Amino acid sequence: MKKSNYYDNIAPIYDQTRWLTETIAEEVADFILDFVCATPETSFLEPGVGTGLNVIPFVKRGYSVTGIDVSEQMLHQCRQKLNGNPSNLQLIQGDASQLPFPDNSFDIVLTVHMLHTISDWKRFLDEIERVLKPGGFYLNCQWITPPARKEFEGYFREVLSKYKELKPQSQPVNTAREEVNVEGYLRQKGYVSNYLVAKEWTVSNTVEELINFFQLRAYGLCWVTSDENFDLSINEFKEFCIKHYSSLEKIISSEAKFEIWAYRAV
Ligand SMILES: C[S@@+](CC[C@H](N)C(=O)[O-])C[C@H]1O[C@@H](n2cnc3c(N)ncnc32)[C@H](O)[C@@H]1O
Repeated sequence: MKKSNYYDNIAPIYDQTRWLTETIAEEVADFILDFVCATPETSFLEPGVGTGLNVIPFVKRGYSVTGIDVSEQMLHQCRQKLNGNPSNLQLIQGDASQLPFPDNSFDIVLTVHMLHTISDWKRFLDEIERVLKPGGFYLNCQWITPPARKEFEGYFREVLSKYKELKPQSQPVNTAREEVNVEGYLRQKGYVSNYLVAKEWTVSNTVEELINFFQLRAYGLCWVTSDENFDLSINEFKEFCIKHYSSLEKIISSEAKFEIWAYRAV
């Protein structure tokens, strides 16, 4: 399986292997609607909309929502959850780094876990600025991996690193990617920002569930090795977990956060 098809391939298991539930997403949506002082006319755009986890609550509340994503399968999951395509939702399959919309089209643009995938992030932010209406908000959001799951992932990475095939160096050594600095870039364009925590919640899984998510190859780190080596790494990791946690039924819990950096031009 190619990494370029990663989201197409994991689309059917994306939601079940993440930790933002529909109920939490509803609460986050209400927080955002309150923060932006939404009116019935407020319109939303999410580039990299995926399975619609973040925007479906807006669609259900009758707001005009547009989502764009390169992965047709992720969009398919979004449509399935809504039993089709409601008239207030427009889903477009395509590369979001060039937004196919006229200037001043949306009141709110939100991105969630997708900025790092865009090669020219400054140009992308210019595009967001172009399609935002005057006085509109750009919401740069994240719901990062909860600490206990991150630690668990770290153990798996260690095992996996033994099975990772060495790839030929495809790029010269000194072509490090420029760090994404949304705050710095938008501030010098005259935007003001607010940091907000829309929701904090507890995420709990058994060790066995988390191993199953890896076994399903639900995350990018699961695609660094051949199928055969991946199976070997999973077997070794299961043995590690049995020793380390005593039982695969052990519950691992930690706090998750939905964070928002909200930008508005002044
Ligand atoms: C980590 S997922 C996040 C999905 C959704 N925003 C969420 O929070 O659940 C990243 C999404 O961005 C999409 N994506 C990545 N690069 C993209 C691009 N250049 N244009 C459009 N979609 C892109 C992927 O297909 C995937 O659905």
